[in-house]
Amino acid sequence: MKTHLPLTLLGGLSPADFMRRYWQRKPLLIRQAIPGFKPPLNIAALKKLARRDDVESRLIWREDGAWQMEQGPFARLPKAGEPDWTLLVQSVDLHSDAASALLQQFRFIPDARLDDIMISVASDGGGVGPHFDSYDVFLLQAAGRRRWRYGRQQDLSLQPGLPLKILSHFTPEHDVVLEPGDMLYLPPQAAHDGIAVGDDCMTISIGFRAPTQAALARGLLEAAADQAMARIGLLGGPYGEPPLPGRRLDALYRDPDQPAVDTPAALPDALVQATLDTLAKVRFDDALAARFLGCWLTEPSNLAVFDAAPPDGIDLASDWPAGGMLELDRRTRMLYRGRQVFINGETAQAPASAALRALADDRRLACADPRCRRLGSAARECLADWLDAGWLHYRPS
Ligand code: SIN
Ligand code: CO
Repeated sequence: MKTHLPLTLLGGLSPADFMRRYWQRKPLLIRQAIPGFKPPLNIAALKKLARRDDVESRLIWREDGAWQMEQGPFARLPKAGEPDWTLLVQSVDLHSDAASALLQQFRFIPDARLDDIMISVASDGGGVGPHFDSYDVFLLQAAGRRRWRYGRQQDLSLQPGLPLKILSHFTPEHDVVLEPGDMLYLPPQAAHDGIAVGDDCMTISIGFRAPTQAALARGLLEAAADQAMARIGLLGGPYGEPPLPGRRLDALYRDPDQPAVDTPAALPDALVQATLDTLAKVRFDDALAARFLGCWLTEPSNLAVFDAAPPDGIDLASDWPAGGMLELDRRTRMLYRGRQVFINGETAQAPASAALRALADDRRLACADPRCRRLGSAARECLADWLDAGWLHYRPS
């Protein structure tokens, strides 16, 4: 994506300008971000998803003014004409190619930050109440109309004892009605309340995720622990791959200077110090952080089920096709850094060549692309395995 060219999606801002001026900073309302927008799914298809037990959904409504929430799957949903309900379906991009394709327009933001596409449908008056989210979101109006009130406020206290997050005091700065194709970007903590104006209101939330410092620290420490064991041959690497370069840690603790003790239960100082000294031998470097992040962030959703390729398909390892296209499955997550490639929670057994990086960035790769000529046998084996697992598909031209 050309990050310096103006985009209609961003109201004429370039992705570079948007990221510098709005991302994580302030709301942006974009009229006709996608002119003539057609929803990736219709309401009936969305309701069908909400009936499945491998799809996460919620129904929110009010009864005598009190907020109610129920988790799906739903055998029956409110009938047309019943006011004030909202059905929210999570991770629609896992279940619909069209929804997943919509995400491609937002890939000026790193995939590592992308979470999912949530789609809501609401009847007249439906909404989830005034609240804030912890993550960035683009709210794209897909069908019908929704009134959004939003703004930034200091007081983010929530009403206690409710089944959903509702602000105690909502003091919006803006009040707008969004039509199909309009979009509102909200940074984390922005207060907002969207209410359906009329029936059949559909809103698409393109949501992002951000790890806590605690999750990053824990993940890095766990990856270091796995590496330490891998280096003495007790584990084949955290994900079965060879350990990263680093010092071996198989020397046994020695205490030739240990004096005789009359307090045998006391932990020896030398052992405590030796434990702390060992940490200096563990390499906390870019490669370790990348391996932890790459494997963790590409871990497929527990709702993602891949369809393995039919056994009589092509074999990329032995017979590279002259034409056609390789395409990542919509559920596949793929990242790279330096020479490491990560896919669906694993480290690839092949280096990040130009062809593999292009596949990750573009999510597709033409077999006739000259970069494919430089794919080594390890990379072709990987691609063949991914094809068999249904992580990748081959489309003949
Ligand atoms: C909705 O789509 O109804 C709610 C989205 C949100 O407020 O985050
Ligand atoms: Co929200």
